Amino acid sequence: MGLFDFFRTTEWRVDAATGRHAAQISELHGENFARGWSVGEIEALMTGGGTVTDILRSRAGSSRIDGFALSRVAGGEAELLSIAVSSRRRGKGGSTKLLAQHLARIAAAGARRVVLEVDEDNEPALRLYRRFGFDEVGTRPAYYARRDGTRGTAKVLARNLG
Ligand SMILES: CC(C)(COP(=O)(O)OP(=O)(O)OC[C@H]1O[C@@H](n2cnc3c(N)ncnc32)[C@H](O)[C@@H]1OP(=O)(O)O)[C@@H](O)C(=O)NCCC(=O)NCCS
Repeated sequence: MGLFDFFRTTEWRVDAATGRHAAQISELHGENFARGWSVGEIEALMTGGGTVTDILRSRAGSSRIDGFALSRVAGGEAELLSIAVSSRRRGKGGSTKLLAQHLARIAAAGARRVVLEVDEDNEPALRLYRRFGFDEVGTRPAYYARRDGTRGTAKVLARNLG
C-alpha cells in the first residue's frame, strides 16, 4: 500500500467472477472457514450452472481479490453459500458493497428470496446481515465443525428480494 492509498478511503469494485478467479477464491475461503473448498470444487460450483459468484477488489490493486460471495439460485430462491473479505481488508465497507451488488445480481438471476446459514457466534457476519434486513427463520444445532473440535449452532436467516 502506498502513502496515497493510506490517506484515502478505499473505493471498492464488485464484478462477476470468472474461472480464472477460482484459485484466489479457494485460498480466501480456506483462510476463513474450517472446511475448505478446493480449486476444483469452486470451479465445479461456478461452471455447473445456477450459481452467482462475485469478487471484491480495490480499484488500486485490481489483480488481487479482497473478497467474494457465492450463491446458488434455483426455483426463485437463492442460497448464499459463502461470503468472505480478506482479514486485512475488513472494516472498510467492502462487505457492504459486495453484499449489495451480490443481492442485486441474485435478484437479476431470478431469486425472489435468499437464505443463508451463519454461526450464532459470528458477530461481524450477523451485524452485516441484520443491516441488510435479514431475519432469523430457524436454527440448526451442532451444525458447524469448528477448528477447536466443538460444534457451533447455525442460525438460518432469510430475506425477500425486490
Ligand atoms: C463477515 C465479513 C464478510 C464482514 O466483513 P467486514 O469487512 O468485517 O465488515 P464490516 O467491517 O462492515 O463489519 C460488519 C459489522 O461487524 C462489526 N464487527 C467487525 N468486527 C467485529 C468483531 N470482531 N466483533 C463484533 N463485531 C464486529 C462491524 O462493526 C460492523 O458492524 P456495523 O454494521 O454495525 O457497523 C468478514 O468479517 C469475514 O469475511 N468474516 C470471515 C468469513 C465469514 O464469517 N463469513 C460469513 C459466513 S456466514
